[in-house]
Amino acid sequence: MAIISPSILSADFANLQRDVEMINDSKADWFHIDVMDGVFVPNLSFGMPVIKAIKRHAKKPMDVHLMIVNPDRYIADFKNAGADLLTVHYEACTHLHRTIQAIKAEGMKAGVSLNPHTPVHLLKDIIADLDLVLLMSVNPGFGGQKFIEQTYTKTSELRKMIDESGSNALIEIDGGVNLATGKKLLKSGADALVAGSFVFGSEDPEKTISELKKL
Ligand code: DX5
Ligand code: ZN
Repeated sequence: MAIISPSILSADFANLQRDVEMINDSKADWFHIDVMDGVFVPNLSFGMPVIKAIKRHAKKPMDVHLMIVNPDRYIADFKNAGADLLTVHYEACTHLHRTIQAIKAEGMKAGVSLNPHTPVHLLKDIIADLDLVLLMSVNPGFGGQKFIEQTYTKTSELRKMIDESGSNALIEIDGGVNLATGKKLLKSGADALVAGSFVFGSEDPEKTISELKKL
């Protein structure tokens, strides 16, 4: 059964506690928390005070996706804010191996995210160290974008790489996930699905989460 990680980016920020509790009560597994710096991506989202506020109510693990340059500067701060799993972008880390070790040293699970144009084979020498790979199926920065079809092939390639290497890394997909794309992604070998606008834009978000969970 897939891990479902609803993206808080599409929640109602004026009713954040209500939306956090909806996720607590739902069949969702994690909270997906998108952090954007206006440099790595052309948008700003939120930072530590908001993450801490979510953590005070969240009863499930916090899956924090950093779309920021120089993530090393803030690893301890994200741990203090409540991150359980911290994902950095391959494209934002010159010394990725060091960054991954620093995340683990803080007691968090470590993930690496790839932009749509970044091939999975670049992870060959780091895959054994990872707890998760997050494949972007849209260009990061905004919710509600169109799913990039090439992601199915990337997911199968990554599945093969992980299985052959003996790594325990989970495959998570982020962007444009709905029941149709979600189903094909799971068939291609994904373990976890992020969904923002599809969940929070639906009439009954809790029911939509159950439907994703049943895929
Ligand atoms: C995009 C973020 C996503 C976003 C997904 O940069 O990383 O997590 O919230 O939103 P949807 O599911 O609407 O594509
Ligand atoms: Zn994300």
